[in-house]
Amino acid sequence: MTALSPEQTIAVIGAGAMGAGVAQVAANAGHPVKLYDQAEGAAERAIERIARGLDRLVERGRISAEEQAALVSRIQPVDTLEEIGDAALVIEAIVEDLSIKQQLFRQLEGLCPEAILASNTSSLSITAIGSALQRPERLIGMHFFNPAPIMKLVEIIRGLASDPALAQTLFDTAQAWGKLAVHARSTPGFIVNRVARPYYAEALRLLQEGAADVPTLDALYREAGGFRMGPFELMDLIGQDVNYAVTASVHQAYYGDPRFTPSLIQKELVDAGWLGRKSGRGFYDYHEGAERPEPVTAELAEPPAEVSLIAPPPLLQPLRSLLEQAGIAHSAAEGEECSLISDAFTLCLTDGRMATLRAREDNLKNLVLFDLALDYEGCERIALCAAEQSAPEALRQASGLFQAMGKSVSLIEDVAGMVVMRTVCMLANEGADAVNQQVCDAAAVDTAMQAGVNYPKGPLAWADAIGLPRVLEVLDHLQHNYGEDRYRPSPLLLKHAAAGRSCHEPS
Ligand code: NAI
Repeated sequence: MTALSPEQTIAVIGAGAMGAGVAQVAANAGHPVKLYDQAEGAAERAIERIARGLDRLVERGRISAEEQAALVSRIQPVDTLEEIGDAALVIEAIVEDLSIKQQLFRQLEGLCPEAILASNTSSLSITAIGSALQRPERLIGMHFFNPAPIMKLVEIIRGLASDPALAQTLFDTAQAWGKLAVHARSTPGFIVNRVARPYYAEALRLLQEGAADVPTLDALYREAGGFRMGPFELMDLIGQDVNYAVTASVHQAYYGDPRFTPSLIQKELVDAGWLGRKSGRGFYDYHEGAERPEPVTAELAEPPAEVSLIAPPPLLQPLRSLLEQAGIAHSAAEGEECSLISDAFTLCLTDGRMATLRAREDNLKNLVLFDLALDYEGCERIALCAAEQSAPEALRQASGLFQAMGKSVSLIEDVAGMVVMRTVCMLANEGADAVNQQVCDAAAVDTAMQAGVNYPKGPLAWADAIGLPRVLEVLDHLQHNYGEDRYRPSPLLLKHAAAGRSCHEPS
């Protein structure tokens, strides 16, 4: 353990949203903190904001008034950079501009030659910032998430010249501050901003292709996928301009890799100034009195009297007890297919093909597909779609079956890979590629996505739960469906699947 000790001074440069949050985190861990901002009075105002924020915790009895006073008194505003010479660590959280950050770090290098220098940049290369320094080995990325006192994750980023021992010190320090730290190499988007791209991209594509409307898609991500926020409400919260800019910069940084192609739908919102909550309108309308649109939910229908269930473990196991609770007679059949069969329908888990295509290719009558759920037992909603050749009764009874098992049903258009399945497969694919390209390890991907953006399960652990051969089948079918390189499977997934091991087992 090489964490800095609480007596050591931490300096924070930039007292905006992130700098103030980081100062609070360090002071909360017992460090004396010096806070500097070039704007006059900004550091003092930030400290007042921190104190006001802590008032609420005192009111709720989460901390005592004495603890609040002690924490705030540990943060000292300073008027000049010369006053931070005694800091053991300087964390920069100023404007996101390469040359301004380089200029600051050059100055800091002279003022505090012994300090570890850290940048909270969310998109700039640590290698590029460090290139301006005489001792670039002392510069490490320390990427907190907003709001820093609440969000658990800190990405510790090594540039080409960064000293791994200093990165480890910051990793241990972040952990000592109560955070979950992950190591990553300085690559575009680091871990979270890279691996999260498909969450927005697949949702935007589904909308563009008319799979369902915005509230229905959001509801499926939340109520079937278990995500805390649907992608559209999340993009509205982040700001369409900010979210679009991140996608565009990652796309450009990877030399136009189609994995990251930005969405025309989102571009149009940005062009219109429909930036989300902050402008009063995005995918949703936030003006006073505006009604929140409801997801489309299928009307109640009769379930079939009996079904035959093919549920290879472990994915569909919960369906057995749900059928029992619903009082629907069921017999078990062997197979890998993940399906429920009745006189009226063949109901299969999506394998990445459109239902209409799969019905023809596999000669399946009355084919209806269902989507992936995080947990079939606990989920509240499920998406279904039918092949064009299927009789309307097939879809009605398939809806009735899931309704009898306690689920709301959303009927979506026949799109390849449906909603949760294709998104989770693409998240896992991106996570696997980050590991394959030596950005970080598999555990870091899952920790980062759970602690940084509140995913209900790490994408790689999720892929293991689905089964890697199934994930690859979905990706293959998506690639064939679109004829696009975007859906190419990560070589690491191919290797793990071929070796019959999970994403987290060492090779
Ligand atoms: P902000 O605009 O709220 O605050 C920036 C502060 O830095 C301002 O108070 C400004 O006066 C000050 N400043 C600008 N140039 C300066 C300089 N040369 N010397 C001293 N102070 C200077 O920005 P925010 O959102 O706090 O972002 C800061 C950094 O953190 C950026 O690099 C950003 O990319 C990164 N970041 C932002 C996140 C977010 O959600 N806002 C999340 C994670 C990282």
